[in-house]
Amino acid sequence: MFHYSFFLLFLITIAVSSLSPSLQTAVVAPIFKDRSRRLYTIQVYLQTPLRPTKLHLDLGGSFTWVDCYRSYNSSTYRQIPCYTPHCDFIHSFACSNCFHEPGPACGNNTCALFPENPVTRNVSLHNALVDSLALPVSTPRGRLVLFPNFTFSCSEPSLLKGLAKGVTGLAALGGSNYSLPAQVSTALSSPRCFALCLTSQRSRSGVAVFGSRGPYVFSSDIDLSGSLVYTPLLLNPLSTTVITYPWPSDEYFIGLTSIKVNGKTVALNQTLLRID
Ligand SMILES: *[C@@H]1O[C@H](CO)[C@@H](O)[C@H](O)[C@H]1NC(C)=O
Ligand SMILES: *[C@@H]1O[C@H](CO)[C@@H](O)[C@H](O)[C@H]1NC(C)=O
Ligand SMILES: *[C@@H]1O[C@H](CO)[C@@H](O)[C@H](O)[C@H]1NC(C)=O
Ligand SMILES: *[C@@H]1O[C@H](CO)[C@@H](O)[C@H](O)[C@H]1NC(C)=O
Ligand SMILES: *[C@@H]1O[C@H](CO)[C@@H](O)[C@H](O)[C@H]1NC(C)=O
Repeated sequence: MFHYSFFLLFLITIAVSSLSPSLQTAVVAPIFKDRSRRLYTIQVYLQTPLRPTKLHLDLGGSFTWVDCYRSYNSSTYRQIPCYTPHCDFIHSFACSNCFHEPGPACGNNTCALFPENPVTRNVSLHNALVDSLALPVSTPRGRLVLFPNFTFSCSEPSLLKGLAKGVTGLAALGGSNYSLPAQVSTALSSPRCFALCLTSQRSRSGVAVFGSRGPYVFSSDIDLSGSLVYTPLLLNPLSTTVITYPWPSDEYFIGLTSIKVNGKTVALNQTLLRID
């Protein structure tokens, strides 16, 4: 048995990289479980100077968002001017102006996004930001890798309602080209893969590994990448967010063909198992 009382490994392969394994770099981030809300959080470093930042872990989110009103004091943030390729790349629909004090959440002619809270399904509209993100390398653990061009959305503190205590935003791990793992893999020229090890043990944190197709060595010396069961991920052509977009969902789907309980197939209409 594995070291964890509950062990779940989640591996996503989005695209095939042509790089040789020796050139690949992987970075990691600890994952914690909020026991009262039963939500997972992930810790990254953001801003300049770098600050440990706890974010809600959202497997299907398209883009990361962070409260940039409270405790946001970075010397490197910048907004993205509207109608630029960078703005198009993050699928921005809106251009915002602001008549308050200039700051991370207030600028003119800045491209904007609709951050969503997946727990409350509350939505807001805020400008996008580019700032520094840092994550530790996987081996040897410790050294931080800086991503100076990390793109995410601002949000206001009220969008955090319903998430775990202490989080100041959401880390999006969805299938978009600008989710956290996508931006990290692009910057590192690493495979578009990530793995999550979630643990329910109070005393141990889990871990996310970005930019590596393995080996995955979590608690003992065993590489788990060889003992995983793989299944294809399906594309859902329909948007699954509160604000619906005219492109496929960034969430991950797997194909279910039947459901068995105690070895007995549950009688149900097969069409209900199809994505429609
Ligand atoms: C923001 O950071 C700068 C430099 O790190 C510091 O001088 C300033 O007091 C900080 N402001 C706030 C509101 O924390
Ligand atoms: C930052 O990233 C965006 C897309 O993620 C890209 O369009 C832009 O050119 C990058 N800027 C720099 C300075 O690397
Ligand atoms: C945006 O432009 C308006 C009109 O020129 C100006 O009043 C306002 O202060 C500007 N906002 C920022 C954040 O610079
Ligand atoms: C939803 O968001 C709005 C604006 O962002 C905020 O004022 C409101 O309190 C939020 N509602 C809930 C239930 O979180
Ligand atoms: C994501 O990037 C890949 C490679 O650049 C591109 O082929 C694909 O169309 C992009 N996906 C979306 C949804 O823009």
